[in-house]
Amino acid sequence: MLENKLGLSSSAELAREEERISKKKAAELFENGILDSLTPGSFSALQAIHKYLFDEIYDFAGKVRTVNIAKGNFRFAPVMYLDEAIKKIEKMPQSTFDEIVEKYVEMNVAHPFREGNGRSMRIWLDLMLKTELHKVVDWSRVDKDDYLLAMERSPVKDLEIKHLLKSALTDEIDSREVYMKGIDRSYYYEGYEAFKAEEL
Ligand SMILES: Nc1ncnc2c1ncn2[C@@H]1O[C@H](COP(=O)(O)OP(=O)(O)OP(=O)(O)O)[C@@H](O)[C@H]1O
Ligand SMILES: [Mg+2]
Repeated sequence: MLENKLGLSSSAELAREEERISKKKAAELFENGILDSLTPGSFSALQAIHKYLFDEIYDFAGKVRTVNIAKGNFRFAPVMYLDEAIKKIEKMPQSTFDEIVEKYVEMNVAHPFREGNGRSMRIWLDLMLKTELHKVVDWSRVDKDDYLLAMERSPVKDLEIKHLLKSALTDEIDSREVYMKGIDRSYYYEGYEAFKAEEL
């Protein structure tokens, strides 16, 4: 299991505490206005979000990972090319819905952090959508299984994830409730072990 600042050695307990703390931090992030000070679509914004959510839990909060990782059959960007990939992704356009989702998909392929990419990236995605289109995703209307399947498929074909997210767009960009739904884990505790990234 992952080394953590909480001194926890049970992965179920770590999962619980991590969820509790990151949700508390996400709520703070929404309320204290820090989000509004970030540059949408930049890596520094994603880094700041990740650091904010996970700083109390992991030493690697906000830091680019130093190990290669995989989930299922998919290997995320090799550490060797990660900095280069991130620079390229940052430069991708973000003025239409399709462009924004394409950028999100590429950042997921990069998977810059050792853990917690999904939650910080969903906030990062919403920040782009909010600024560019005055919309956000209402994550309560995105089925978790459909989301994971679409994300697994996205490096090959992004049609499913585009469709899924597009049909869940809402104008409620200042709703705390809508925002907080994105911080839910994309899987359930029972499957926790199975959904952890594997170190290569
Ligand atoms: N097989 C896969 N191929 C590509 N992307 C995947 C795959 N499995 C999961 N993902 C993406 O990785 C994210 C999970 O990454 P990570 O575990 O680092 O983040 P998290 O915040 O801990 O989890 P979650 O997104 O489940 O809340 C998922 O949200 C999904 O977008
Ligand atoms: Mg995870």
